[in-house]
Amino acid sequence: MFGMYNKPDTDNFLDTTAQGLIGAPLDRPEGKLKVTGTACYAAEYVLPDCVEGAFVLAPISAGTVKWIDRASIAGMPGVLGVFADDAMLRRAAQGTAGKAPAQGVQTVDYFGQPVALVVAETFEQAVAAANALQIEYAATDPVQLDFDPEAETTPVVDAREDSAVDQGDLDQAMRDAIHSVDVTYRTEAHAAAAMEPHAAMAEWNDDHLTLRGSYQMIGHNVAELADSLGISEKNVRILAPYVGGGFGSKLGISYEAVAAAIAARELARPVRVVLSRQQVFRAVMRRSETRQHIRLAADAEGRLTGIGHEALTSNLPDEDFAEPVTQATDFLYRGEHRRLAVKRAKIARTPAGSVRAPGEAVGMQALEAAMDELAERVGLDPVELRLRNIPERHPSSGTPYSSRMLAQALEEGARSFGWDRRKPQPCARREGDWWIGMGMASAARVNMMMPAKARVTLTPQGGLVVESDQTDIGTGSYAILGQIAGETLGIPIDHVSVRLGDSALPTGAGSGGSFGAISTGSAVLSASRAIRKTLASRLGCRTDELVLRDGHAAGGNRSASIADLVGEEALVETGRIKPGKTAMQYTQASYGAFFAEVAVNVWTGETRVRRMTGAFGFGRVLNAKTARSQCLGGMVWCIGSALTEELAFDRRDGHLANPDLAEYHVPVHRDVPDLDVILLEERDPAASPLQAKGVGELGICGGAGAICNAIYNACGVRVRSFPMTLDKIIEHLPDPLAN
Ligand code: MOS
Repeated sequence: MFGMYNKPDTDNFLDTTAQGLIGAPLDRPEGKLKVTGTACYAAEYVLPDCVEGAFVLAPISAGTVKWIDRASIAGMPGVLGVFADDAMLRRAAQGTAGKAPAQGVQTVDYFGQPVALVVAETFEQAVAAANALQIEYAATDPVQLDFDPEAETTPVVDAREDSAVDQGDLDQAMRDAIHSVDVTYRTEAHAAAAMEPHAAMAEWNDDHLTLRGSYQMIGHNVAELADSLGISEKNVRILAPYVGGGFGSKLGISYEAVAAAIAARELARPVRVVLSRQQVFRAVMRRSETRQHIRLAADAEGRLTGIGHEALTSNLPDEDFAEPVTQATDFLYRGEHRRLAVKRAKIARTPAGSVRAPGEAVGMQALEAAMDELAERVGLDPVELRLRNIPERHPSSGTPYSSRMLAQALEEGARSFGWDRRKPQPCARREGDWWIGMGMASAARVNMMMPAKARVTLTPQGGLVVESDQTDIGTGSYAILGQIAGETLGIPIDHVSVRLGDSALPTGAGSGGSFGAISTGSAVLSASRAIRKTLASRLGCRTDELVLRDGHAAGGNRSASIADLVGEEALVETGRIKPGKTAMQYTQASYGAFFAEVAVNVWTGETRVRRMTGAFGFGRVLNAKTARSQCLGGMVWCIGSALTEELAFDRRDGHLANPDLAEYHVPVHRDVPDLDVILLEERDPAASPLQAKGVGELGICGGAGAICNAIYNACGVRVRSFPMTLDKIIEHLPDPLAN
């Protein structure tokens, strides 16, 4: 019904319907299955005759596999084979196309790269044999191992040249500025750290492959897998009904999928490959480290005249992806003199790719910390500084913004948090051994729509079935897609069933870039509205006077049960949406504001977040519970990015020193205080027919900056290196006895 989304949908259709499901904080329909352990995740299928594969990871950062001594494990119990071919080994985590299979010498590009899969009858046998397998390597000197931006030996190339901006004369603007900031921030590499490790189970029936796996975008993943194996997409089916978190690490297929498929084909038995937690950390992609040079030029009132954001990221030499660090800086604040650029250093570490909010997650936290530095120079409240710098139109292209709640988020968040109680001077508030400080930051994340299809069936009994290959990676897809269909067709939620995560179903957008809900949701809306039209004509009224509620239809002085209108044959429609002109004609993003209160220990510099408020505007809220959960999760990530998360690579040999959840510190319950989330009422007709925008990543875009600013406000130490561990604070702390 919608097709290309070329014109903002301003009819507010979902405000006129009667079922009351949209926006309601409904539970996830699959929640009980998940908490009782009966939802079947990728590694949990039981297939008769299934055998197990275990990976061997390279213990060098560069070189070649000279030879694999298969005889070294030949006598071990249960061993069925060793698989090592290029298609499997080359598969980069973000899903670049695999190269043609070729037995022989393999190149090792980073420490921890899978080089062989050992398959045995049981998991224990496979792991034992993988550990015993003798492999001879020829190590060579890697390109730079360290992310050391000053090292002249690091090869650096321009990246993301399409989004680079060089406008006006920033150097002159900096010289002319009344107030300016010229600082460099640094962030370390992050792991996606999804709870469910990567897993795949491959089964062939003749030349048809069925893969049960854990992936975010299975329509796209089918194409990747078919390409890697050199077979037709028609012969590949992927099932991923439940995904235990992805955060970008499951956007593309990964080694386990290709390896399981190759081994299963050779052995003519189903093969399961489950990565260990350590293997996920070492072999599946990471978020890049960044160094960010930020320049802000302002007039006497704090109005930005210029803004510079030049970032260095990293990746393997042959990988193109570069963290789009400046993505939100492009449109967030005014300033006619602008320079935005991203470079990529070629280093030999686990490949870098998309991790939740690629770009804004680390770019916003540095920008917002630099903005705090500017506020202090100008002598202006940090909230007021942001309000003064909200541009009328996109500062480079001049395109108008679609609906934008930045000012409301700043004001509402400040009011609710009690921002007016903040003392502008550092070290002004002390409670025992702790200095207490407050900080804030804006939030912004680009909004994207992707092509999506979904099928909606209204059954003769008056039940609804929603079907798409859309995944639910913990985000609430099952809940909201059912709500959209039930709302549009007046069917109570317990008569709605949602089937997802099977590539045989109509291709949804998948889960990534915060686009799943609005894209696949719009396809569901489209299909449901087409059925609505049929119901109106069967009842004999105009579509716009049809009222559907609790299984009953009324309109034009007539009424009937919906089941009677359906009759004996189900009404089935497939809805479609594709991004169109609205994507080009409007600058689209979700916005918000973070407020944090921290305590910094006067002796040790240890920081505890005491409370945090986030106010967010992302268009229509489809489910207040699942949306709030996305924001809460994002804010937890902010705490990790601010204080603890850092992949530690050894500079001598490139190995990852903290490849598990014991040593890579994501925030745990003790680290997370009460988090307050405010969902702002908004409609964004340019963003989608739902008038909704993306929310999945918004909550992580800037909040670590608010914590950085709160640390400064607490103790007067400005930390320009994330995570802000106590060693970076303690040496700069003022005298606890004098303050
Ligand atoms: Mo997201 S990093 O596009 O899953």
